[in-house]
Amino acid sequence: MKNDMKTILLDRETIKKRVREMGQEITRDYQGEVPLLICILKGSVVFYADLVREIDLPVRFEFMTASSYGSATVSSGEVKIVSELDNKIAGRHVILVEDIVDSGRTIAYIKNDMLKKGVKSLKVCALLDKPDRRVTDVQADYCGFVIPDEFVVGYGLDYDQKYRNFPDIGVLKSEVYEK
Ligand code: IMP
Ligand code: MG
Repeated sequence: MKNDMKTILLDRETIKKRVREMGQEITRDYQGEVPLLICILKGSVVFYADLVREIDLPVRFEFMTASSYGSATVSSGEVKIVSELDNKIAGRHVILVEDIVDSGRTIAYIKNDMLKKGVKSLKVCALLDKPDRRVTDVQADYCGFVIPDEFVVGYGLDYDQKYRNFPDIGVLKSEVYEK
């Protein structure tokens, strides 16, 4: 897989160190609470698994699927949500765990939807932020790294479902898209 990368943007050690800090921040902010962490599948699953183990609090796990990409590298703008979380989130401190906030459409859509369902509080925790491409005014409350406007893969992020298990985060060579 490494041969398909133009550059490694974030290596596993850098990611690990930052995820630990994010977990410590959440631990401090939610003292005495039992936050409900929602993993937005599939891209966030690797980040989620590492993050929850850096949080020294009792937490609840939930999972939901959101997709807007298909097999293109540009967001379709249409967000599809598959979840049955409605009665589990009312009255809870919810943290949405996302791999990357790009246009911001996915997270804006999910946030709006959840705020209608009586959550006690709602925050967004994103590993990556690509602010250059934002079309909404959403912001991650916890953000791992701000990255330039490049399509990245690895550590859960895919191109056409591939590279999710690559342990670092890299920028793909353009030949890979053209194949
Ligand atoms: P948004 O709705 O445009 O913010 O898109 C968010 C979703 O698009 C993320 O959850 C990712 O699944 C996907 N995405 C955005 N940028 C990238 C990227 O650089 N690599 C892989 N997936 C990406
Ligand atoms: Mg995703």
